[in-house]
Amino acid sequence: MKARILGTGSYLPEHVLTNDDMAKLVETSDEWIRERTGIRERHLTDEGTVFMAAKAAERALENSHLTADDLDMIIVATFTPDYLFPNASCQLQAAIGAPNIPCMDLSAACSGFIYSINTAAAYIQAGMYQKILVVAAETLSRVVDWDDRSTCILFGDGAGAAVLGADETGILAMDMGSDGVKGPVLYCEGWPITNPVVNKGAAGKLRMNGQEVYKFAVRRLPKTIQTVLASGDMKVEDVDHFIFHQANKRILEAAAKHLKIPAEKMPMNMDHCGNLSAASIPVLLDEYNQAGKIKTGDKVILAAFGGGLSWASALLEW
Ligand code: COA
Repeated sequence: MKARILGTGSYLPEHVLTNDDMAKLVETSDEWIRERTGIRERHLTDEGTVFMAAKAAERALENSHLTADDLDMIIVATFTPDYLFPNASCQLQAAIGAPNIPCMDLSAACSGFIYSINTAAAYIQAGMYQKILVVAAETLSRVVDWDDRSTCILFGDGAGAAVLGADETGILAMDMGSDGVKGPVLYCEGWPITNPVVNKGAAGKLRMNGQEVYKFAVRRLPKTIQTVLASGDMKVEDVDHFIFHQANKRILEAAAKHLKIPAEKMPMNMDHCGNLSAASIPVLLDEYNQAGKIKTGDKVILAAFGGGLSWASALLEW
C-alpha cells in the first residue's frame, strides 16, 4: 500500500507587492532583485495563515473529488501560525467543517510540506488512516524585517495543499534530514521571555546569512535528490518533473546544472510569488497540476531545503 496525491489546491492573496513597490520601502531595485533571485513580485495577506490554508484545502478537496467528511487526519505545515494554540490544523478543521479527526501542525520551515507528506505517507502505509489532508500555509510577511533589504525582498504569503490517499502507487521513496548546528544561519526567534524576573525584548524577526544559506542549498539539494533517486532505483532521466522549493532561481539552476536536469522538467514560479517557505512546493505543484502538465504515471521529485537547517525530498508516481 502506498500514499498517492489525489488532488492539489493553492491560494495566493490578492495584494501584490512588486519589486518597484519594494524599492519604495528599502534601497533596492527591480533589476537587483530579479538578477539575484528571479523574483518579480510577491503576494501579501491581510487575512492570515488559516484563511489561506482553508482556501487551498477547499480547492484540493474539490480537485480530489472529496469532501471534508472523507478526511481521516489533517496536517498543517507552518512556522507562522495565527495562534500558538489552538494549532492551525484545528482551526482549519473548523473552517472547512471536517469531522473530529486528529489535527496537528508540523514545523520544519521550508522543508515542512515534504516532511508533512512523508509523515502522512507513513500513517497511510501503516494502515492507520486512509485519507490525509496536508496543507502548507505561511504568513511570512508577519516575521519579515521590512527594514532589512537582504531578506524582505525574498518572501511572500500563500498556501498550498494536497490530499493523500491509500493506493497501489504514489510515494515511492523519501529522504529527510537536518543539521541543527547550522541553525543560526537562518532563523526566526519566537516570543520573548517577559515575566516578573526578566524582560527579553520583542518578538523575533527572520534573520539570514544569505551566502551561507546559498552554499548549503546548492550542495544539499543535489544530494537529497541523488539519495531519493537511489532509494527508488531510478536515474535523473527517468523523472518527468522536478518540483523544487522556490527559494531562488540561481540555486535551482546550479542544482539542475550539476544533475543535468533539463530546464523544461524544472518549473519555477518564484517570479510571481517569491519564497513561500513550506507553501512553496504545493503552490507550484498545484499551478503545474491545474495547467494539466502532470499525467497519470509520471514520475515526480519534490525537494526542499531551508531553516533547521533541514532538507527533504520525495519521489512519487502521479
Ligand atoms: N538590493 C540591493 N542591494 C542589496 C540588497 C537588495 N535587496 N540586498 C543586499 N544588497 C547588497 C548588500 O548590502 C551588499 O552590498 P555591499 O557589497 O556594498 O556590502 C551587496 O548587495 C551584495 O550582498 P550579498 O549578500 O553578498 O549578495 P548576494 O549576491 O549573496 O545575494 C542573496 C544575496 C540573499 C540574494 C543570496 O545570498 C541568496 O540568494 N542566498 C540564499 C537565500 C535563500 O534562498 N534563503 C532562503 C532559503 S529557504
